[in-house]
Amino acid sequence: MQAILIGFMGSGKTTVGRLLAQTLATQHADLDDLIVESAGTPITTIFANYGEPYFRQLEQQTLINAIKQPGILSTGGGTPTVAANAAVLKRSPVPVIWLAATGETILERVQNDRSRPLVNDLNTESLMTLKRQRATLYANAADLVIHTDQLSLQEIVGHIVSWL
Ligand code: S3P
Repeated sequence: MQAILIGFMGSGKTTVGRLLAQTLATQHADLDDLIVESAGTPITTIFANYGEPYFRQLEQQTLINAIKQPGILSTGGGTPTVAANAAVLKRSPVPVIWLAATGETILERVQNDRSRPLVNDLNTESLMTLKRQRATLYANAADLVIHTDQLSLQEIVGHIVSWL
C-alpha cells in the first residue's frame, strides 16, 4: 500500500481513496468492499446474521491481506478499534491518514444511509459518543490528520499528494 485512510463513518475514506488512487495512477481498495466480496453478503447481513464480532474477524483477516497490496486502502470506520488492527497499522511502514470531520458533517452524510448497521442501530447521541471515543484511536494510528470539513474533495487529495 502507498497510503491507508482511516476515520469515522462518513468521513470520506472511500471517496477520497478513489480520487487519490486515480491521481497517483495506482489502485484503490476498500476494506468493506473486500469483506463483502469474500463473504458474499452485504455488511448489514453479516452484522444481522453473525454479529459484529464475526464481522471484526473478517475485517482483521482482510486487513492483513489488503495491506500487502499496492495502492490506496480505505478502511472501515471501526478498523482501528480492534487492538490487533491498530497494531498492524502502527507496525506498517505505510502512511496512515486520518480524515477527521465534525459530528455535524458526519451526521449529514450518514443519517439517511441504511447500509451501515451501526448507524441503523444507534441513536444520534450514541453515534456521537462512539465518534468521540474513537477519536483517540484514530489519533494514535495516524501519521497525518486532515480536518476535512472546510475542504473540497480536490483539496483533500491535493493535501495528501503533497504530503506523501
Ligand atoms: C463500521 C464502519 C463501516 C463498516 C461497518 C462498521 C464502524 O465502514 O466497516 O459498518 O464500526 O464504524 P465505513 O466507515 O466505510 O462506513
